Amino acid sequence: MPETRLDTARIRAAREMIDPIFLDTPLYRCEALEPGLGCAVSVKLETANPVRSFKARGTELVTSALAAGGSRAVVCASAGNLGQALAWSGRGRGLDVTVVASRFAPAAKLDRIRALDARLELVDGDFDLARERAAGIARYEGIRLVEDSLDIETCEGAATIGLELAGAAPSFDAVLIALGGGALATGVGHVVKDLAPGVEVICVQPAGAPAMTLSWRQRRVVTTETTDTIADGVAGRLPIAAVLDDLLQVADDAVLVQETSIIAGMRLLLDHAGLVVEPSAALGIAAILEDRDRFAGRHVVTIVCGGNVDPDAYRRWTGPAARES
Ligand SMILES: Cc1ncc(COP(=O)(O)O)c(C=O)c1O
Repeated sequence: MPETRLDTARIRAAREMIDPIFLDTPLYRCEALEPGLGCAVSVKLETANPVRSFKARGTELVTSALAAGGSRAVVCASAGNLGQALAWSGRGRGLDVTVVASRFAPAAKLDRIRALDARLELVDGDFDLARERAAGIARYEGIRLVEDSLDIETCEGAATIGLELAGAAPSFDAVLIALGGGALATGVGHVVKDLAPGVEVICVQPAGAPAMTLSWRQRRVVTTETTDTIADGVAGRLPIAAVLDDLLQVADDAVLVQETSIIAGMRLLLDHAGLVVEPSAALGIAAILEDRDRFAGRHVVTIVCGGNVDPDAYRRWTGPAARES
């Protein structure tokens, strides 16, 4: 049993609080991907839901507890997907939702946050500046601040994916998990290490946003001054110590991948699996592309964790012009 902030019994109980529309997502072996990757590949599809990412599993927990306690408002900082998920979950429970995001976040994500009736405040900086601003709003207005990856519900929500993976047959040799703030990796990693300890837990981050991976490798919080990646969902600079402690318990490895591999991964998922994914969701495929020998002959599952892309940017990455260059 891994010694983390998480508890598998609580994660099982959490399933009851999550709208079933976000649970038991498709999990299937995708043979069409395999010739390009040299190993058996299954995908866990977290994009086929109303917010096109896994983040609503956590926001369902946060908002159901808030609504039960009589709260009326909630605020979060978001790279885009948490905000959209919180807006969706909060709207259904009559909560006023404020989201603080970078004005450089993909317009598609920002538009959906607004469309779901949340108040959207933009900062002229990155996600970590948005975090500061959201904390200020929470203090000033006296409302709940949702801190992704730090707040246990965000990890428990993501961890319900782990229950679905651990319950699957046949079991996998390795699970590839996109790593940002760490809710997804610590949540899924906790359950996998508890229920299927033989499965290798591998976190994947862009080389252009490596803070959590460097922290995991050095076993202490390492921050970076900037980030430079198209994978906007995982581009943090300031890892949270408590999340790193959990990640150290559950991750077997943390790898960094190049931008070209992320784009190649998005193309493979489009061409051979018919999946439109955002860059963060292609990190697992990118990791296989960069180290085929490591995965050869093994059965790997990758969590396709988000599909919110700006159409123009997506066409730039995957369209014919990009393929010729
Ligand atoms: C699509 C996508 N993938 C991966 C992540 C990273 O998840 P975490 O911050 O839980 O590590 C996020 C975070 O918002 C995301 O939106």
